[in-house]
Amino acid sequence: MTSGPQSALPRFAGRTAIVTGAGSGIGLATAVLPDSEGARVVAADVSEQRLTDLTNQFPDLDLVAVTDDIPQVADVERIVIAADGKIDVLADVAGIMDGFLPAAEVGDATWDRVFAVNTTGTLRLIRAALPVMLEVGSGAIVNVPSEAGLPGSTSGVSYTASKPAVVGTTKSTALMYGPLGIRTNATAPGPVRTNVDGTARSELAGNRILALFGALGVPVAEEVEQATGIAFLR
Ligand SMILES: NC(=O)c1ccc[n+]([C@@H]2O[C@H](COP(=O)([O-])OP(=O)(O)OC[C@H]3O[C@@H](n4cnc5c(N)ncnc54)[C@H](O)[C@@H]3O)[C@@H](O)[C@H]2O)c1
Repeated sequence: MTSGPQSALPRFAGRTAIVTGAGSGIGLATAVLPDSEGARVVAADVSEQRLTDLTNQFPDLDLVAVTDDIPQVADVERIVIAADGKIDVLADVAGIMDGFLPAAEVGDATWDRVFAVNTTGTLRLIRAALPVMLEVGSGAIVNVPSEAGLPGSTSGVSYTASKPAVVGTTKSTALMYGPLGIRTNATAPGPVRTNVDGTARSELAGNRILALFGALGVPVAEEVEQATGIAFLR
């Protein structure tokens, strides 16, 4: 009888991971996956109800739920405190869309909130987690900028402008802290089937972007596929 590959310990045994946006979609799949492989997971989300549903759905997993709004410095501090001095993995998954609003139609509130959550929130988590990681000289940060963060892809103006900033944050952090033992990477998903609000709040956007997606036949991925990619970069 042949045996499969030696799978000694689960990949995340004894490790602590912070996952933002853990109440839904890619974040939820990412929180559950390493937890099922031995990690203690600090699951953070702005929705208390979603976190309650998560902990009820997975009562056997080692999940610490933290309700937070990631642009808020005090909330970010609470997340790091919940990690209890040990952060092996930080998965910055929380993010929001912008109704695909184009430049002439977007209001300041949408622009500011999209940047606050997608860009500023990501930086604030990284900034708070780094000292804990640097203390032990190791750690993995995985950001989720989206395909809209890459050349050749576009969406509403706020979302499309906010995500390349996450790519920049990722590259700078990788350069600065890589030699100190911190690996910083990003995944850039195309469309994924989640609860993200993909409603076009603009007729122009409906005509341009959604029609383009339809014409290109952009494939839609499942959230667990994205979680697997994030976990690979642990
Ligand atoms: N679904 C897609 O097609 C797709 C494609 C590319 C990139 N992404 C990115 O993946 C990430 C996850 O998106 P998703 O599709 O799983 O969406 P989702 O809406 O299903 O899940 C996002 C979670 O983040 C939480 N959240 C929102 N604002 C928050 C805040 N201020 N603080 C803490 N938590 C907050 C929400 O409550 C929600 O539970 C986002 O960064 C998104 O930009 C998604």
